Amino acid sequence: MKILLTGCHGQIGWELVRSLLPLGELICITRAQADFTKLHELRELIQKHRPKVIVNAAAYTAVDKAEQESGRAFLINAEAPLILAEEAKKIGALFIHYSTDYVFDGTKASPYDEDDTPHPLNVYGQSKLAGEQAIQALSTDYLILRTSWVYAARGRNFLKTILRLAAEREELSIVADQIGAPTWARLIADTTAHVLRQSMLDRQLCRFHSSIYHLTTVGSTSWHGFSSRIIDLARQYGNTDLKSRILTPILTTDYPLPAKRPANSRLSVDRLEKRFGLYMPTWEGALELCMQELMGDNPKS
Ligand SMILES: NC(=O)c1ccc[n+]([C@@H]2O[C@H](COP(=O)([O-])OP(=O)(O)OC[C@H]3O[C@@H](n4cnc5c(N)ncnc54)[C@H](OP(=O)(O)O)[C@@H]3O)[C@@H](O)[C@H]2O)c1
Repeated sequence: MKILLTGCHGQIGWELVRSLLPLGELICITRAQADFTKLHELRELIQKHRPKVIVNAAAYTAVDKAEQESGRAFLINAEAPLILAEEAKKIGALFIHYSTDYVFDGTKASPYDEDDTPHPLNVYGQSKLAGEQAIQALSTDYLILRTSWVYAARGRNFLKTILRLAAEREELSIVADQIGAPTWARLIADTTAHVLRQSMLDRQLCRFHSSIYHLTTVGSTSWHGFSSRIIDLARQYGNTDLKSRILTPILTTDYPLPAKRPANSRLSVDRLEKRFGLYMPTWEGALELCMQELMGDNPKS
């Protein structure tokens, strides 16, 4: 089975390279090989390789910058995925695409289901929703995997930022009124591999159904709670250089950013677990595994 993966140098893409390797011949595409702002190159790429599966982990992910670059965000997050999905349809390939909790406005009191009505608060969320809708309208074979609060041992992300700031400052002020499920990129990649394999079997048996699935850890916390746990685990795994002793919880309004964020980013994973017989771990459990990798595996206590 030939699998074409885009965004190979991103957080999720990097982990996908490892998770998808045993499933077939993997063609890894970086921005240098295919720039999503050059749509004709994308068509040529798919026609050249004619894969059985396309996994699109490339995206415009600069949430605040997107407020000033909406044209570029929509080009990369909506127009380019549409081209990939069109090409997938032409060659009968399965198209796997990632989306985000930021398609919702966060006003729901409980975790969002896949069928809840999206209402993005920012340009990034709007561009990702436009990508989802373009793929769905094509009626090709697709899986859209919405995830949230992605971190990894590699790449630029909240976890790495907190570790850097905690080494520099004695006190940190962190937003405590946005809640969600921090999700390790490796878990997303490994789950994608399971879902891909099962979906290809289902296609052979003519029982595949295109759908959106929520793919996150279970449980939830705030950015403040996430930061506290990161710093505790870093100390537990031997990082004695961290200066931060005080983590002050603040409101979103105390830390204004160009893009609005949803207060509730929780996504229900029931559909994914039931459909694929999976059991998603807690955010705390996954974070501990990632921290073990990042800090070494010798806890002090
Ligand atoms: N990060 C999160 O918290 C989060 C949350 C929910 C959903 N998601 C979704 O998850 C997916 C993967 O996110 P991620 O966190 O892995 O993102 P990431 O680390 O920012 O990686 C994005 C990848 O897209 C590539 N890319 C950006 N612009 C491109 C262009 N013009 N042409 C080709 N490639 C381009 C980047 O290439 P370079 O390496 O060259 O920069 C990078 O490899 C995305 O669909 C995102 O919307 C992410």
